[in-house]
Amino acid sequence: MIGSMLHSFDPKMKKLLKVADTIATSKASILITGESGTGKELLAKYIHSKSQRASKVFHAVNCAALPDGLLESELFGYEKGAFTGADQRKIGRFEQANNSSFLLDEISEMPLHLQAKILRVLQENEVQRLGGSETQKVDVRIIATTNKELKNQVKRQEFREDLFFRLNVIPLFIPPLRERPKDIEMLSYLFTELCAEENGLNKPKLTSSAILKLKSYKWPGNVRELKNTIERSVLLAQTENINEDQVLILNDDIQSQDQILQTGLSIAEAEKRLILKTLEHTEQNRTKAAEILGISIRTLRNKLKEYKTQRCL
Ligand SMILES: Nc1ncnc2c1ncn2[C@@H]1O[C@H](COP(=O)(O)OP(=O)(O)OP(=O)(O)O)[C@@H](O)[C@H]1O
Ligand SMILES: [Mg+2]
Repeated sequence: MIGSMLHSFDPKMKKLLKVADTIATSKASILITGESGTGKELLAKYIHSKSQRASKVFHAVNCAALPDGLLESELFGYEKGAFTGADQRKIGRFEQANNSSFLLDEISEMPLHLQAKILRVLQENEVQRLGGSETQKVDVRIIATTNKELKNQVKRQEFREDLFFRLNVIPLFIPPLRERPKDIEMLSYLFTELCAEENGLNKPKLTSSAILKLKSYKWPGNVRELKNTIERSVLLAQTENINEDQVLILNDDIQSQDQILQTGLSIAEAEKRLILKTLEHTEQNRTKAAEILGISIRTLRNKLKEYKTQRCL
């Protein structure tokens, strides 16, 4: 996976980063909003890195990824015997994150009954383990992210208004990539360079027609999609220049299937594309990719080595 540092060249983003720098050292809660793939998680990590809490481990929990009960015990922990199967005490993530920053990712998915408990962390700085009678003091800086309109959820009574106001002390909105033309261009150069470097390739040059194509696309998947597109284009192009036709934008599933399964492709080539596409899907996690592909990690590693010697990777 290519670099995970936050870079931006767009004036709106520069302003936003300045605000982020200014508030990084405070303890105020932050709500980061923006479409999927705009860099909300990256911005949260950036803020943590600029805070006095930077030397502590950054904690993150995705509220959409865990079912209600598990989310509650993950966040708050439990005492031995709190429920069947709780055979020993578990310290929750809020307690583990004491003195650090805590990202509540996709906060809109937090169930209502847990929202009340989150409010208590914010207001009273305390948590209570499940099945416990005492409260524990915690000092965590909460950063929440969402790609939904929380205000609408408040109106529909799906999100507590008091929690919304409490989180929204410092709202940071990341504009979609299509509204940041300078970023489309500069991040394309940067990702090309990083991808070539990480894969031991000579840095290819993006032609002006390639840049034009990149700038005229709407990027519904934002920076994540741009990053994947550049990575795919660099890895599959075998030339010094990457022109318009070698910029492989996959804007829907059907098209992406076509990219992999074109008649006229050799089995080896189709296999290579499928492997690269799967790695892209798993964000270069080889273990996961091998599992999806139904091959061993060793086979996957050997294939990648083979592509590298063919100078395709
Ligand atoms: N300004 C940036 N500079 C460099 N890389 C970026 C930038 N913004 C986003 N990225 C990269 O794009 C990808 C998506 O970013 P991130 O996961 O932070 O987005 P997100 O807004 O949290 O997305 P989602 O809503 O889908 O969770 C990551 O690989 C991240 O490193
Ligand atoms: Mg995210």
